[in-house]
Amino acid sequence: MKTVDFKNKVVWITGASSGIGASLAIQLNQLGATIIASARRSEKLTELKKSCQYPNQFITLELDITDSNSIKTAINAVEGLKQLDLVIHNAGIAQKGMVIENEMEIDRQIMETNYFGTVAFTKAIMPKYLDQGHGWFAVVSSFAGVMGIPGRSAYAASKHALHGFFESLQAENMNCNLDVSFVIPGFINTEITAKGLCGNGKPFGRVETSHKLGMTADQCAKDTIKGLMKKRQRIVVGKFEVYLLSINRISPRLGRLIIKSHPMKRIRLLKKKITNIFNFGANHSLEPQLTPNN
Ligand SMILES: NC(=O)c1ccc[n+]([C@@H]2O[C@H](COP(=O)([O-])OP(=O)(O)OC[C@H]3O[C@@H](n4cnc5c(N)ncnc54)[C@H](OP(=O)(O)O)[C@@H]3O)[C@@H](O)[C@H]2O)c1
Repeated sequence: MKTVDFKNKVVWITGASSGIGASLAIQLNQLGATIIASARRSEKLTELKKSCQYPNQFITLELDITDSNSIKTAINAVEGLKQLDLVIHNAGIAQKGMVIENEMEIDRQIMETNYFGTVAFTKAIMPKYLDQGHGWFAVVSSFAGVMGIPGRSAYAASKHALHGFFESLQAENMNCNLDVSFVIPGFINTEITAKGLCGNGKPFGRVETSHKLGMTADQCAKDTIKGLMKKRQRIVVGKFEVYLLSINRISPRLGRLIIKSHPMKRIRLLKKKITNIFNFGANHSLEPQLTPNN
């Protein structure tokens, strides 16, 4: 199968000001793509541009996907572009809190950004795709987009909704050269959980340990690009947590049981115990210990 060569391709990435989006922007630019990097924090995009390989192929655009005027302005700003090959719907926010604790406003806010914002931006892009006769959306979903996760109901719902929307969009446009890829990351070490909304609307404030120990954003972008080059429809990225998805596919009941029992926490505790045992062995070895006195 022919792989996609990103040289001379034009790629629009939403949420490119940090984390996975920023890494994708830098790496795709390195491959020769022209990048339209958008997000609300334009100063972060300007910084990012300074570190890219081909700054003359790096357009930065302020864009809030929840604001229709902002979408209109951004689309108008790049109207002159000959082609648009790929849109990576990466902008998103996280949520943390049990269903019972979440104020309804939080559910709405998460849907507003992750789902309605992405849908609104897609509708604004579609005329260009239909006009040029081809188009490709890569939707950054999540582990939580394919299975429910405790404490992430609104987030999981917003990502599940994206699957329904884009599968339908693709089915509607079977004869129009429209491709859709879903990127499904596990735990990636970014600020997303720190900014994630708690039940009372306040940000969580710190990066969760599962994410701190997760894959780096650079590695996530690298693996995502590998999948995009093969035009995969489903690109699963992460460390060993991704095996849970396969288990869940075979047996959703088993998948639920595992996810309920906080497997990552258990694995971390087990690792700690094993390390302690080895450290204990090392500390009590018969070899003389090196101290400043000997
Ligand atoms: N990190 C993970 O473990 C993980 C796992 C699965 C899926 N994901 C998904 O990966 C994507 C990127 O997240 P990340 O982990 O890289 O976190 P991140 O660093 O917080 O990136 C989120 C990006 O979304 C942008 N954004 C948020 N609201 C926006 C809005 N209204 N309009 C435009 N842009 C907006 C942010 O930019 P501004 O604030 O500058 O607008 C930021 O660039 C998200 O869709 C997330 O759900 C992440």
